[in-house]
Amino acid sequence: MKPMHITETVLRDAQQSLIATRMPFSDFEAALDEMDKAGYHSIECWGGATFDSCLRYLNEDPWERLRKIRSHMKHTKLQMLLRGQNLLGYHHYADDTVRRFVRKSIENGMDILRIFDALNDMRNIETAVDECRKAGGHAQGCICYTLSPIHDMEMFVSLGKQIESLGCDSLCIKDMAGIMSPQECFDLVSALRESIRLPIYVHTHATTGLGYMTYLKAAEAGAAGIDCATSCLSGGTSQPATEAMVYALTQMGYDCGVDARQLGRVNSLFLPVKERFAESGLFDPYVLSTKTEALVYQIPGGMLSNLVAQLKAQNAIDRLDEVLAETPRVRKDLGYPPLVTPLSQMVGVQATVNVLLGERYKSIGKEIKSYIRGEYGKAPGAIDPALAKAVLGDEQPMTGRFADTLAPEYEAAAAHLGSRARSEEDVLSYIAFPQQAEQFFDRREKTFTARYSFKEVG
Ligand code: CO
Repeated sequence: MKPMHITETVLRDAQQSLIATRMPFSDFEAALDEMDKAGYHSIECWGGATFDSCLRYLNEDPWERLRKIRSHMKHTKLQMLLRGQNLLGYHHYADDTVRRFVRKSIENGMDILRIFDALNDMRNIETAVDECRKAGGHAQGCICYTLSPIHDMEMFVSLGKQIESLGCDSLCIKDMAGIMSPQECFDLVSALRESIRLPIYVHTHATTGLGYMTYLKAAEAGAAGIDCATSCLSGGTSQPATEAMVYALTQMGYDCGVDARQLGRVNSLFLPVKERFAESGLFDPYVLSTKTEALVYQIPGGMLSNLVAQLKAQNAIDRLDEVLAETPRVRKDLGYPPLVTPLSQMVGVQATVNVLLGERYKSIGKEIKSYIRGEYGKAPGAIDPALAKAVLGDEQPMTGRFADTLAPEYEAAAAHLGSRARSEEDVLSYIAFPQQAEQFFDRREKTFTARYSFKEVG
C-alpha cells in the first residue's frame, strides 16, 4: 500500500476557518490523548491566528498552550503555520525576532514549521527556514497557490526549486481559497515531483466544493500528505473531513496510518464543542455552504464576505458588482499578488475605495503604498507604471530585502517590559502583539495577586 500522511487541522485551520479561532484550551484538552492515539502524521495546532486569539480573546498564554499540547502528544508530531518574516502578525519583523521566535517555538514543542510568504517571495521565508533547521525542526516551505495570467506551471516549478534550494525538508502547496481544481492539482504535483525531490503536501479548503476531488488527484499524482479536519468541524471554509478522506483513500490502496475507530472517538469529543459554539452563535452555519463564486470571481470566499460587509457598512451594497469587477483590475495593477492575508484585505479595500470615490486611485491606502515601494517583497508581476509613478514619484522602489533595513528589536522590547516579562517567550509575545500582550500581562499580574492574597487570608 502507498503511504499517505494525514494532518489533522481541527486545532488550528478548522477552528480558525469556522469559529474565528475562539476555541479555548479547556475545550480540547480532553481530546488530546485520544488524538495522540489516532496515528496522524501531524496535528496542526499552533500559529496562524491562534497566537493572536489566545492573547486577545481567550486570556491564554499561547506558549503555555503549546507546552500543554506537547505534554499530551507522545507519538504525534506537532505542526504550525508561520507567515515567514511576518511570523504570526501582519508586518515584517527584524531577523533577531524571527530567529528567536522560531527557536522558541521548537524549544516549546513544535516539530514541523510550515512557512509561507504572501507574495511567494522566498527572501521572506529564508531566515525562518534557516533557523528552523538549525534548531532541529522540520522546515516546510510553501507555494501560495493562486490563479493569474502570470502564475503558470513554470513559475510554480521555479518556486518549488527555490524552496528546495533553501534547504526545506518538504514543500506544501497552500491553496488558502480552495480554488485549486483536481486537474490543476494533479498537474502541479506531477510537475513538482519531476523537478524536485522534496515530499509534497497539499493544503486546501472545502469552500468551493472541489477539495475532496482535489485531494484524490493529489494522491494519484503522488503527494505525500493532505490536510483534513475531523468531520464535525470539516467542510465549507474548513478542510475536507478526515474520516471521509481516509475511507476513500484506504479503498484506493493508500495506507493513511490512522485507526478509523480512533478517528470516531476523536470526533465524538469535538461534537459537544461544536454544539456549544453553534448555540452561542459563534458558529454560523453560513460558513459551511458551498460557495462556487470564488471560482467565478477568482477571489477567496473570506474576501468576498469582507467586501460585502464593507459595502453594507458604507450603505453601498448596490455597488457590489462594480467592486467585484474592480478587484481583479486592482490585483492586475499590483502585479497579481496572491489574495492571502494581508494582500486580500489590501486589494479589497483599494477596489472599494476606487469605486466609491468614483475615480481610480484618487486615494491610495498606506499599505498599498508600502507594497509599491517594495516593502512587502517583490511583486509577482509588473506593477502598473502609472500607479507606480503616482506613489513613488521619482523615487526607486526597494529591490533588496525589507527586513535587512530593520534594526534588531529584542533588546529594546525586553528593556521596555522589565520585570513584567517573565521569560523570553513573554518578550516575543510583546513584539508580536504589543497591546494584546501588555493587557494579558496586566490581567495575569492581577490574577496572581488575587490568588496570593487569598492564600494569605486563608
Ligand atoms: Co488554510
